[in-house]
Amino acid sequence: MNTPNRIEHQMTDKGYVPVYTTAVVDQPWDSYTKTDHEVWATLFKRQRELLPGRASKEFLQTQDEMGMGEKGIPKFSDLNAQLKAKTGWEIIAVEGLLPELAFFDHLANRRFPVTWWIRKPEQLDYLAEPDLFHDLFGHVPLLMDPVFADYMEAYGKGGVKAHSLGPEALSQLTRLYWYTVEFGLINTSEGLRIYGAGILSSKGESIHCLESAAPNRIGFDLLRVMNTRYRIDTYQKTYFVIDSYQQLFDATLPDFIPYYEQMAGRESTPAGQVLDSDRVFNRGTGEGWLHDGDV
Ligand code: PHE
Ligand code: CO
Repeated sequence: MNTPNRIEHQMTDKGYVPVYTTAVVDQPWDSYTKTDHEVWATLFKRQRELLPGRASKEFLQTQDEMGMGEKGIPKFSDLNAQLKAKTGWEIIAVEGLLPELAFFDHLANRRFPVTWWIRKPEQLDYLAEPDLFHDLFGHVPLLMDPVFADYMEAYGKGGVKAHSLGPEALSQLTRLYWYTVEFGLINTSEGLRIYGAGILSSKGESIHCLESAAPNRIGFDLLRVMNTRYRIDTYQKTYFVIDSYQQLFDATLPDFIPYYEQMAGRESTPAGQVLDSDRVFNRGTGEGWLHDGDV
């Protein structure tokens, strides 16, 4: 039965979303239907036609190396053999979004939770929660990059710590994940490229984030990012641009406790605001922005 084991809907920092059991399951590969494999193939093909010249090269290269393709839904065991050998990461199958602490604990131990089920054919363009296509296609290839792999583990450890500090620290750290791992851009000698999984798994946003005049594109600055609200229901108003994965790793290496103290009680920055101190690649026109609803 291809029905995820859902417990209840809960208000989280990502909105009112389903929360699933924290169980780690076996990927039920044999029970994927022909339609499931076709959904994977359709989305895979569509994104891979779009992404050369838009996605980070490391992403595209490692995705090929790992053998993800149009054949059908990959087996986690095949991907794990490679991940284990290259960076020591592994993917584990889960029912869906996990509670924060369970999620951080997996990352801190180099386990990346991947939703085992895939969206339905009528949901190709949009889904409010992560599914197998988003998690596997979008997140897993960069776990093969040694520096990015280290960043993800460090983030998990930082998450465990932020969780114990309280909701303000947690939401600041969550913004960092959102603006890097999910919606990050990277500056290369050939131009801006996508490395955030939330963009890589979305047809519309893959084009919008680079080619639209509407959003801001701003140089990455740790505290600026951690203080900036975001959108969960529309394209981002602002994308932050890193120079390299090493820059991201180095910037996040220090103990964040002094940063959290510095930011405590400070008013957060609206998602679309440009500050005087920003390194601006593009000042967004703001076209199509909704005025409320920043998270
Ligand atoms: N260095 C951070 C801390 O002490 C942990 C962290 C690393 C957070 C990487 C995010 C990304 O909290
Ligand atoms: Co994601």
